[in-house]
Amino acid sequence: MVKLGVNVDHVCTVREARKVAKPCPVEAALICEKAGAEGITAHLREDRRHMQDADLETLAETVKALNMEMAATQEMVDIAVRIKPKNCCIVPEKREELTTEGGLDVISRFDWITECTKKLMAEGIVVSHFIDPEKDQIKAAFDTGAEFIELHTGTFANTSGIEQEKELERLIKAAEYAYSIGLKVNAGHGIDYDNIELIKKIPHLHELNIGHSIVGRALIVGMHQAVAEIFEAMSDYSL
Ligand code: PXP
Repeated sequence: MVKLGVNVDHVCTVREARKVAKPCPVEAALICEKAGAEGITAHLREDRRHMQDADLETLAETVKALNMEMAATQEMVDIAVRIKPKNCCIVPEKREELTTEGGLDVISRFDWITECTKKLMAEGIVVSHFIDPEKDQIKAAFDTGAEFIELHTGTFANTSGIEQEKELERLIKAAEYAYSIGLKVNAGHGIDYDNIELIKKIPHLHELNIGHSIVGRALIVGMHQAVAEIFEAMSDYSL
């Protein structure tokens, strides 16, 4: 069965709106685990707009499997080496973006991304690269030595009709190719309670990373139920 990773960044977005102590991402993460989440994801951004360093440290000590999303910078590699999350997902990061836009360009920064990947793996951290569903990028991710890729589903989530069908086809082909060369495949970005039905058509998925839609739904029905609902929607995945 495909695993669920819940991204709790936006619990901190609410907290940082007031710069106070609550809501607490660790409290939220523990509820997510009880409701079926296998992993907890947190993105420590360069501008610290939501997650703070102390959040990552406490999450790493508390949750069963922390997935640290991070830019390929020396600062982030040093933090990961120190706090040792179970997984690191390397993502592109632009200061002015609202959220991660597009996948990592592994090809153009191959040497540096390989160096970051190897440094993290030497610490026993499982490394994933967040990439667009493009064969060349997938092959480059594989060549760095990374064990996982996370397919960027944001373009799929932001389109509809024929365009969305085409993007889904690209995701399916990308997952097949990645699996065929020995990579493990996760997917994430923009996945919600509606589009998850189509996401389930992508084969070989190991884990889905979902954040905004769950935290948004949690405001209405509570975190436990929000996670349980998406967990239930994923439960018949069988490719
Ligand atoms: N995966 C990656 C690599 C991301 O950067 C994000 C957003 O932080 C997510 C998954 C979760 O995306 P969303 O919040 O749209 O569910």
